[in-house]
Amino acid sequence: MKSKSLLKENRKFAPSVEFLERSNLKSFKANEKDYQKLRTAAQKNPTAYWTKQAKELKWIKPFKTALVWKHPFAKWFVGGKLNASENALDVHLEAHAHKAALIWEGEPGDTRTYTFLQLFLEVNKLANGLKSLGVKKGDVVGIYMGMVPEAVMAMLACARIGATHNVIFGGFSGEALRDRLNDSNAKCLLTQDGAFRRGAPSALKSAVNEVLNHVPSLKKVVVLKRTGQETPMAPGRDHWWHEVVAAQSNSCKAEAVDSEHPLFILYTSGSTGKPKGILHTTGGYLTQVKSSFKTVFGPQEKDLYFCSADIGWITGHSYITYGPLMNGTTVLLYEGAPTHPGPDRFWSLIAHHQVTILYTAPTAIRSFMKLGDEFVLRHNLSSLRLLGSVGEPINPEAWMWYHTVIGKKRCPIVDTWWQTETGAIMISPSPDSVTTKPGTATLPLPGILADVVDQNGKSCKANEGGFLVVKHPWPSMLRTIFGNKERYVAAYWNEYKKQRFYFTGDGARKDQDGYIWIMGRVDDVVNVSGHRLGTAEVESALVAHPKVAEAAVVAKPDDVKGSALVAFVTLKASAKVILDADPSGSTVAAQTIKDELKAWVAKEIGPIAKPDEIRLADALPKTRSGKIMRRLLREMVTTGKASGDTSTLEDFSVLEKLRASDEE
Ligand code: PRX
Repeated sequence: MKSKSLLKENRKFAPSVEFLERSNLKSFKANEKDYQKLRTAAQKNPTAYWTKQAKELKWIKPFKTALVWKHPFAKWFVGGKLNASENALDVHLEAHAHKAALIWEGEPGDTRTYTFLQLFLEVNKLANGLKSLGVKKGDVVGIYMGMVPEAVMAMLACARIGATHNVIFGGFSGEALRDRLNDSNAKCLLTQDGAFRRGAPSALKSAVNEVLNHVPSLKKVVVLKRTGQETPMAPGRDHWWHEVVAAQSNSCKAEAVDSEHPLFILYTSGSTGKPKGILHTTGGYLTQVKSSFKTVFGPQEKDLYFCSADIGWITGHSYITYGPLMNGTTVLLYEGAPTHPGPDRFWSLIAHHQVTILYTAPTAIRSFMKLGDEFVLRHNLSSLRLLGSVGEPINPEAWMWYHTVIGKKRCPIVDTWWQTETGAIMISPSPDSVTTKPGTATLPLPGILADVVDQNGKSCKANEGGFLVVKHPWPSMLRTIFGNKERYVAAYWNEYKKQRFYFTGDGARKDQDGYIWIMGRVDDVVNVSGHRLGTAEVESALVAHPKVAEAAVVAKPDDVKGSALVAFVTLKASAKVILDADPSGSTVAAQTIKDELKAWVAKEIGPIAKPDEIRLADALPKTRSGKIMRRLLREMVTTGKASGDTSTLEDFSVLEKLRASDEE
């Protein structure tokens, strides 16, 4: 990849005077200078920097060695013992027991507030409840829930007793849930009857009842009553949440775990069909999550922080649960759809609760932009002081809208680059010390050695396209892929084996000021509405359908979602017969099959993976060795033609036919 980026964006924004004054900060120039000094020192000696950050945590036993690096396996803060829930809750009980930790609003408008003390007591009860069901240190506990306070409690209760949580996004299908529970060997599952979404209760437990019988390791299921909908319960295995916690004491000793004890597994998509169980451990993860939240959001005593991510993604782990709570920041949690009951729900939430920091995704920003400014202008958003963006590149137009219409030019924007694998934010401005430019996450945070390099691992020149790598281990890095060390090595460390760089899978360029501009994934991973999906995962769901012979899925740029999925599908001969026999001409039958396939993918993976478009094809373009040439398909859906290198294409007529199928 040696392309020059075409994006010309020269606007620069230093933080407003109002932002600095409200935060009692020095002059921007002074902050900038101090931050530069800090970064330079941390970049020179990252281990020393992280050692200092780790000391901000509460350790039950201090660590001896900051980093043991046996490429590509890292251990951080070795010898230390600590507990994640203690760091999120107990540490605030002296000074902030009665400060709100969680303010929650359900979609129907019901609200609940938990102070740090109340949250602590609830977590203790639940932790004891889990113990009473036989959950022990080292066991894996699945969490399949919506956005309710109990989801946060569930994570912290697991951490309290040293169990490893595995949160599975509530929008995933039963099949996806089953696979993730089986792969992680989960012993217990925490779920709920249903959740409110777009005005109606949507089932969780009852929708997955059947598949739970196909998880042999699963011994206990705990069900929270949220919607009151009918929910079948398996005697002996399934228990109501309120009954489990009712009899429990509100005191549960926090288990002292090793720094490298697994805190959680979180599944994410890779470039093959099977999702990867990303494993994060305790001491390093907590260190970087706590410190990055401080650097990026500069939390103040009176902040109310609202992150719109779902608990089922890494953002929900690091920047709803652990990061803000460890920093003693009050979190606003919202259950439902951002546009229910009206397109202005988000803005009314912010005005009503007086949110000061908003952290959301470009896809949400673009949808709000499309809905129109009037829904924003109805509400007084003057409480906001800082805005954040995460999940995909934010295009300058959306950035400017966020800056002017939401932030009224007062609020800096922190565009934060990171991944499920990195655990914490890696590239982002510190809002009081870095000038921002629309469309770039700016500079690596202190202690993060991220760079843009060419195929040989050499740093690229300014504005030359290359690959984003990380050159030194960082505390919250993934430790492995659960149960699959080989895949861990192959996916992240083989590309730059000699140089020992971590390969992010992203293309990027660095501008003349050293700012990093992310150009998107260079592998078969796509970002649809801020959700990461492997095209291979969708392909493997499609070929599992009895009518499908072969499938290739590629991404096409989309104004709102970032990317849309286009699936090229060849049908088995038996299914083609149905098409040919359709008396109405094949279009009705073809449409029926396309709808059937879309519904199938939604069932196999979840509605987020449903292809936007399905093109039925007689054959797919292949190399002589039989590999599907996805590059050509990608080009075809993006530009309408495939002009690139076709020298290895086996059958040229295939391309012509595909072009014709597009014009159908
Ligand atoms: O391609 C990058 C994109 O999202 C990928 C990571 O996805 P996931 O593991 O689901 O985590 C998303 C939330 C942290 C990255 O490889 N990405 C994430 N943040 C940004 C981004 N691309 C550009 N700018 C960002 N701020």
